[in-house]
Amino acid sequence: MIESFEKTKLAGSIASGALDEVDKIVRPGVSTDEIDKLCYDYINDHKAYSAPLYYRGFPKSCCTSTNHIVCHGIPSSKTLKDGDILNVDVTAIKDGWHGDTSRMFVVGDCSVKAKKLIRITYESMMKAISIIKSNINIGHIGHTIQKNVEAEGFSVVRDFCGHGIGENFHESPNVLHYGSKDLGPKLKAGMIFTVEPMINAGNYETKTLKDGWTAVTKDKSLSAQFEHTVGVTDDGYEIFTLSEKGLNFPPNLE
Ligand code: MF3
Ligand code: CO
Ligand code: CO
Repeated sequence: MIESFEKTKLAGSIASGALDEVDKIVRPGVSTDEIDKLCYDYINDHKAYSAPLYYRGFPKSCCTSTNHIVCHGIPSSKTLKDGDILNVDVTAIKDGWHGDTSRMFVVGDCSVKAKKLIRITYESMMKAISIIKSNINIGHIGHTIQKNVEAEGFSVVRDFCGHGIGENFHESPNVLHYGSKDLGPKLKAGMIFTVEPMINAGNYETKTLKDGWTAVTKDKSLSAQFEHTVGVTDDGYEIFTLSEKGLNFPPNLE
């Protein structure tokens, strides 16, 4: 395997391992600060750094985005309650290389609508990843996600996208989660980027709160997101952030 893949895989396995630990503590009454501390400690114990911590002034080691929060929710003393849906987004830096991944968690039991939103979001990401190979246009990724999501009556967030990743947290190319197949550059073996669709139950519009980070749906509808870091190979792709414990999708939703 090429060196950049090797290193991203190691960073990705630490980020993903942190989320496997988060899975053990998510329940009503737990604060998002407790999740943040767990992520900080796990990453530190693996001799890695958290990329979000102090990134452009971000104050915590992970993002925790509940219910109508689309992304970049800031961990706080606020506690989770039964029926909440939660995205935790972790990025580890190991030996200078980044691995970026996020998953949904369900606190107790949630609504049928929320379950469907989470399932469609996950399926759209995995379908889009499954078509990745060299020489297709990057636009195929967004096209696949948008087609799957809109068929179910949900919408794809436009204001945030996936990104190249490597020795920098965010690099080119942008990976749009919507749009036409012919958009963007052609995929080439060796490229590494994230696929991280944010899907809303209502309209796709978002706004950012006064804290300068927290992005929410304008119409207060629920939002879900999953994220993997992937590499392009000659005949396909490799996912660098799979759960070693098979916890990629919330186990209490299967
Ligand atoms: N992990 C997010 C992403 O997927 C970025 C978070 S930036 C932060 O790109 F500063 F909010 F942590
Ligand atoms: Co990302
Ligand atoms: Co992320």
